[in-house]
Amino acid sequence: MVVNGLARRTPLIAGNWKMNLDHLQAIAFVQKLAWNLKDAGHDFTAVEVAVFPPFTDLRSVQTLISADKLDLAFGAQDVSAQESGAFTGEISGAFLAKLECQYVIIGHSERRTLHNETDEQVSAKIAAALKHNLVPIICVGETAADLELHGPSAVPVAQLRAALANVSNAADIVVAYEPVWAIGSGQAATPEQAEQVAAQLRAVLQETLGQDVADKTRILYGGSVKSGNIAAYMREPNVDGALVGGASLDIAEFSSIVRFQKHVGR
Ligand code: 13P
Repeated sequence: MVVNGLARRTPLIAGNWKMNLDHLQAIAFVQKLAWNLKDAGHDFTAVEVAVFPPFTDLRSVQTLISADKLDLAFGAQDVSAQESGAFTGEISGAFLAKLECQYVIIGHSERRTLHNETDEQVSAKIAAALKHNLVPIICVGETAADLELHGPSAVPVAQLRAALANVSNAADIVVAYEPVWAIGSGQAATPEQAEQVAAQLRAVLQETLGQDVADKTRILYGGSVKSGNIAAYMREPNVDGALVGGASLDIAEFSSIVRFQKHVGR
């Protein structure tokens, strides 16, 4: 997409369902979402749309998207760092690739805090995803305590540096800045806050992986994104989309977020 003579990254609006919707509900939801967006005349090449259902829904979602030739991308909410073997409860990148997942969310704050995932594990999972040509959506973000102690960008920047330890400069990745205090709280970061951190994260990409990767990598904002605030984030030059939790479970609301261009003329 070209705006003001500048090539822009294709925006990505991603719905992280978390632990919601079983496989039957997922089929009905994805079908309705696709119809809704099609009826509204959505241009899927201008704004990419992806859904992230629970593991148990992935086969159903894949079958539906493939059979009905829907323009939706999909992926998983996590992946194992291991390839195969005695790892009870884990899901490997090979399995996700076989299901035609395009993306996988890695290092979400709920995994970092509730499952004690470390930066090293996040980095190993990213390597596992890339090995199977899955695009990792690398989540970083500070807690309210981090914000008070270190300011807005220190923790996300450190998390991204650690996450990129095994990433080559040819890799296709997405970064999601999700301040922990903004997730599910209704207290979204201001567009200026999101832009400030996104710009710092892009600088890390440039330093570690080079200018080309920094230019092409999409940086998403996540944390209480709604149809009423998406346009303001999308006006920021370093914010290329959103990782949406709660609002991604409401078809009308999520469709309206996807169609943010109505509000910003972008
Ligand atoms: P909410 O949109 O519900 O704040 O969740 C954000 C999130 O965690 C997406 O991964």
